[in-house]
Amino acid sequence: MDHQSLNFSQRLIAWQRAHGRHDLPWQNTRDPYRIWLSEIMLQQTQVSAVIPYYQRFLARFPDLQALAAATEDDVLAHWSGLGYYARGRNLHRAAQLIVEQHAGIFPRDFDAVCALPGIGRSTAAAICSFAFGARQAILDGNVKRVLARHEGISGFPGAKSVQDQLWQRAETLLPEADVESYTQGLMDLGAGLCVRRRPLCRVCPVADTCVALRDGLTERLPSPRPAKVLPERETTMLILMNQGEVLLEKRPAPGIWGGLWCFPEALGDGVEGVAQRVGVELRSVVALAPVDHGFTHYKLRIHPMLGEALRQPRAQEPGLLWLSLDDALGAALPAPVKRILAQLQRSLVSPFSLQAAG
Ligand code: ADE
Repeated sequence: MDHQSLNFSQRLIAWQRAHGRHDLPWQNTRDPYRIWLSEIMLQQTQVSAVIPYYQRFLARFPDLQALAAATEDDVLAHWSGLGYYARGRNLHRAAQLIVEQHAGIFPRDFDAVCALPGIGRSTAAAICSFAFGARQAILDGNVKRVLARHEGISGFPGAKSVQDQLWQRAETLLPEADVESYTQGLMDLGAGLCVRRRPLCRVCPVADTCVALRDGLTERLPSPRPAKVLPERETTMLILMNQGEVLLEKRPAPGIWGGLWCFPEALGDGVEGVAQRVGVELRSVVALAPVDHGFTHYKLRIHPMLGEALRQPRAQEPGLLWLSLDDALGAALPAPVKRILAQLQRSLVSPFSLQAAG
């Protein structure tokens, strides 16, 4: 039989047998407890990080009864360092529920497995496939990437409609037999070849039928999470210069940039009001090009105004500093203030590089 005539699952299964992983500590067993534990630990955590935890955990809690009988503290102590501790708490609770509701025997029924705390549809499918050979489709993060590319499904996989399409494809591609090798093959392909950046398409067993490869979209699929539209705020900052020195003001803490040195900010009282507040007399002022800065929750557009200032006698107050541009650049500054200062310094070397507001 030539390669082309094999369907997706057949090619994946043959590849898994020849090139996939076969000696991970949770393989070569049908013990649902061990498989369950591995699948929970492998959520959001890499294989190499999981292995030592998996072995220590099993040495302390060798079976479901031992886990159910343990205290939560003891369970979490053995989870310590793996992160996402809800996983450990849910595992413990699920073990107790299995003792209470299933006579201590891990359920074989897919829906009963899904009903256990901490086990979603994909994790339940992985457990039932590896432990019982059940014909159930998985769809974890790596498999979403494989299927989005192979099937050419665009759109952010976290979106419900895209996820529905991916589940539908995952179900359709499922083979009638050898589901364990197929499931492991999907995982191995996603972890080893169909990686996020620079996938190794030349050695991929399903490259011949991959829509993303055919259309040159492997770098674009799966589609990234759409960027959130952030609110925009604006502020005016007054860069006061006198005899080569610039005035910096310490920002109050708490607040954005608390404790950092900044240009005095015009907060509704205008440029003249700021000048008065910090004890200078303004000679002239020119608007510079706006500078944008991104925070996690909003965008800030800064309108810098460059002013030539005369210092008045009361100018040296606590929280205010006149510094040379060199010294100012060495102070604890917010990133956009540093950018503006650096630009200003360059412009003093070459005045024509200073960009005025358009
Ligand atoms: N990631 C999730 N489940 C896995 C498994 N069984 N083997 C390797 N990586 C995995």
